[in-house]
Amino acid sequence: MKSTLQKARASYEPKMPTILKDTVQIVEGNKTQSVSNQEDIRRLFPYTYGTPIISFKKCTKPLSFAPMNVGVILSGGQAPGGHNVIAGLFDGLKKHNQESKLYGFLGGPSGLVEHKYKELTANIIDEYRNTGGFDIIGSGRTKLETIEQFEQGKEICHKLNIKTIVIIGGDDSNTNAAILAEYYKQKDYGIQVIGCPKTIDGDLKNEMIETSFGFDTACKVYSELIGNIQRDANSAKKYWHFIRLMGRSASHIALECALQTQPNIAIISEEVEAKKMSLNDIVEDLTSKIMRRGNAGLNFGTVLIPEGLIEFIPDIKILIAELNDILAKNEEFNSIESEDEKHTFIISRLSDNSKATFLALPLSIARQLSLDRDSHGNVQVSLIETEKLLIEMTSKRLAELKEKGEYKGKFATLGHFFGYEGRCAVPSNFDTDYCYSLGYTAAILALNQKTGYMSSVRNLSKPTSEWIAGGVPITMMFNMEKKSGKYKPVIQKALVDLNGKPFKFFAQNREAWGGIECLYLYPGPIQYFGPKEVCDMPTKTLLLEH
Ligand code: FBP
Repeated sequence: MKSTLQKARASYEPKMPTILKDTVQIVEGNKTQSVSNQEDIRRLFPYTYGTPIISFKKCTKPLSFAPMNVGVILSGGQAPGGHNVIAGLFDGLKKHNQESKLYGFLGGPSGLVEHKYKELTANIIDEYRNTGGFDIIGSGRTKLETIEQFEQGKEICHKLNIKTIVIIGGDDSNTNAAILAEYYKQKDYGIQVIGCPKTIDGDLKNEMIETSFGFDTACKVYSELIGNIQRDANSAKKYWHFIRLMGRSASHIALECALQTQPNIAIISEEVEAKKMSLNDIVEDLTSKIMRRGNAGLNFGTVLIPEGLIEFIPDIKILIAELNDILAKNEEFNSIESEDEKHTFIISRLSDNSKATFLALPLSIARQLSLDRDSHGNVQVSLIETEKLLIEMTSKRLAELKEKGEYKGKFATLGHFFGYEGRCAVPSNFDTDYCYSLGYTAAILALNQKTGYMSSVRNLSKPTSEWIAGGVPITMMFNMEKKSGKYKPVIQKALVDLNGKPFKFFAQNREAWGGIECLYLYPGPIQYFGPKEVCDMPTKTLLLEH
């Protein structure tokens, strides 16, 4: 059974760059180098380092390609449009040779290692065109990083005659895609690896990758919800809404939603870190803005909080690092049963500064920091209810100011967390078209025997017909970073650039948005059918950046 919108979306034909409608041949540009640590990365990737950027040009003669079997993997958190990457890949392969086959590895990278797969036929693909979610084959967070895993992957690829693996993932998954590509090339296994840039967090981007897919739709869904809340706040005039927004590390989602909705306050983690703000500084800042509105009789507003904030506050970052060390491999701690005793144990082992930070936190948050840990023993920052932390601390501070007669308003609050609401939404036209083009481009790269490349579609602020498709060597995005105590090659994560146009636009306007005059924007729901200036607009971040 399909909903009416699902039926209508099924017949939507993704718009493609004009070049992809023709038969294309590849054009190799200049040799590339990594963003930094060139010598180290060249040494670690002798077979795939320095390959050229690839663009496409129209081919006047018909080209023939042998059939190719391809395996596809969805890796990491869901992002709207993943099904269309797979549909574009399928159509690209079939257009060049009907005998080609596409296999989906089930449940993420572990499907490759554990040999769990299914062939994706035309009927299956048609069911999922233009839909949200990753349920066509499922996703997972297994990291492909050991030789044993690579060898297990080779076995199944050789069994199914798979010549290319397409990994749809974020910065970590694409880093591992490049390592896998290098390993298979070095071993001469005849298996290529191509990556596709996915993550709602928007932090996989650079000169050649203008945005990761899913960011557009997720931000539009959250902005619709924020806009609705702002309309309610401005009608009822009685609550301050503290809204935490998903985004593991970077604040791109919070910034984009701020640009789309013009909230009273938006915190950007990268700015907090740059200004070395403590938790108390953040609370003081919030308090003064809330007080200004409250003293003018406006006891309502919106505050956007990026999910990753807590790790960008310098004193909490140090506290988390100490907690990780204390708790990770501590058998004595693990044997303690009572929560109070655990709390005391932690306090006795923290440095003086971290002890002060820890004790200043509300007990519920201190507990979340010390008790909820992932399988690697790390604090799960996404589970920390930062909106509640800020509500609690700001309430306390406002109460003090009220005592002194400086604050005359009322402070009633509601906390929200928007994350899962947007990750599987029906993709916007932008993501529908972008993802299809990314998948189709990956098929062309695969058929042209390319490995260690990421599918790239650029010029995205222009109409789809003018988008530029091609391939970028993944090693070009690498630098060396310290991970678990060792320097490793990784794709450089793109945090919010405080000198970039999106942040500057926000910084120039936030004073006015936080003031007395109501400047809220109400973006409303994503529109799928209608005028292109309503339906096809990319994010404000993309428009300001390009
Ligand atoms: P990816 O980086 O894998 O795209 O996932 C990002 C994300 O959606 C973050 O925004 C969020 O912190 C995290 O996934 C939540 O992960 P999970 O779904 O495993 O709870």
